[in-house]
Amino acid sequence: MDNIPRISSFLSRALIFLTLCITLFTSPSLSYTNPSPLLDFCVADLRASPISNNAFPCKSQVSSEDFFFSGLNTPFNTSNPRGLAANVANVVTFPGLNKMGISMYNVAVAAGAANSPHSHPGYTEAGFILEGSVSIGFLTTNYTLYSKVGQGDMFVVPPGLIHYEWNVGKTEARFLAVVTNELPSEVVVPNTLFVAKPAIPDAVLMKAFKTDGKTINLLKSKFKW
Ligand SMILES: *[C@@H]1O[C@H](CO)[C@@H](O)[C@H](O)[C@H]1NC(C)=O
Ligand SMILES: *[C@@H]1O[C@H](CO)[C@@H](O)[C@H](O)[C@H]1NC(C)=O
Repeated sequence: MDNIPRISSFLSRALIFLTLCITLFTSPSLSYTNPSPLLDFCVADLRASPISNNAFPCKSQVSSEDFFFSGLNTPFNTSNPRGLAANVANVVTFPGLNKMGISMYNVAVAAGAANSPHSHPGYTEAGFILEGSVSIGFLTTNYTLYSKVGQGDMFVVPPGLIHYEWNVGKTEARFLAVVTNELPSEVVVPNTLFVAKPAIPDAVLMKAFKTDGKTINLLKSKFKW
């Protein structure tokens, strides 16, 4: 008889311990990033694909060169239909970023041009307007737009929210941006809806945009790959 409470108290402690373990090891803040990496760094060996464990394998021989990248300085040419040009430092262009959880962009925007509303699912973006006047805006999940025309300002876009950059000045603008992933994905809202392959059925888009098939086809025709 005496043993029963002892067993049940052992069981309840075991259950608490188990619950704690499950909570700790499945908690996104602990399992998603690696706060105590086994190695100081892991420069990507891009030839040794594929990506496994969410990173490229490490290069065996590294040198100081592996931690520097001059590509952000490549001259820009914004004379293109979008009026945009960007130099990108991600794990593919700069393998030293492997497992570092960060990428950087040097972006030029022609006067009047805009980077379409887009999001980086799950990742935060921060930027710094180096030249010109850029209207930066992001949308919350309850349809509130937070925006400002920045000059020499730093800005931040909360994780995964849809945002745009629009050069409202009369000269080319430039900004630096960092995103908290070394190979961030990008969902460009209009393109995603209108160039999907196979296409989203017209009936779905007609209902979503409360319009007719002719208008949907017109929009689709503007978004050929
Ligand atoms: C920029 O691109 C345009 C269009 O492709 C081209 O005509 C022009 O020569 C380029 N300018 C420079 C400086 O390379
Ligand atoms: C959305 O959230 C913001 C911040 O909490 C609030 O000020 C705003 O009124 C909300 N908007 C709507 C449409 O619910």
